Amino acid sequence: MRSLIVCVSVSNGNTRKVADVLAGELNGTVVDPEDVDLSTLADYDLVGFGSGIYAMAFHRRLLDLVRRLPEVRGRTAFVFATSGGPEPPVWRYTKRLQRLLDDRGFSVGGTFLCRGYDTWLPLRLVGGLNKGHPDEEDLMRARAFARDLRRRVDLGESA
Ligand SMILES: Cc1cc2nc3c(=O)[nH]c(=O)nc-3n(C[C@H](O)[C@H](O)[C@H](O)COP(=O)(O)O)c2cc1C
Repeated sequence: MRSLIVCVSVSNGNTRKVADVLAGELNGTVVDPEDVDLSTLADYDLVGFGSGIYAMAFHRRLLDLVRRLPEVRGRTAFVFATSGGPEPPVWRYTKRLQRLLDDRGFSVGGTFLCRGYDTWLPLRLVGGLNKGHPDEEDLMRARAFARDLRRRVDLGESA
């Protein structure tokens, strides 16, 4: 199993912590979107796409890459994010990213979301929200998510 984990983590390094744990379980390499060589995507069994959530969306640098992806067949992807709050049911940013990946021909095998320490400007004034997150429990959940995904990809199941 080889995986590529594309991650943008610009605020507090929260999403990078999750990406590193996922990479550990999935025999993966974590890269910036700008460092992805699109011609090598077919070399990976799994490709993960993740970032913090900024103004209700994945980071623009990640979305720009996803929009440039070539059409693929038989590739499994997954989505991950850290955010200050829960995903609003009326604005599912994970579903939107999933749809973009579907459009490129990926089969999206799962989504992992957890809270991240949030220092968006007004919150910084009161010491931030979700201090300490992702914490050990969040990272344990990320590990379990990755193990389950890996098992399913190894079995040849996709989503
Ligand atoms: C400018 C800015 C905008 C944000 N907007 C949102 C948002 O719309 N919804 C949300 O749940 N969290 C929001 N957050 C919180 C981040 O998603 C959260 O802190 C995340 O863990 C940051 O990940 P990172 O440290 O990997 O960049 C925002 C944070 C910043 C700095």
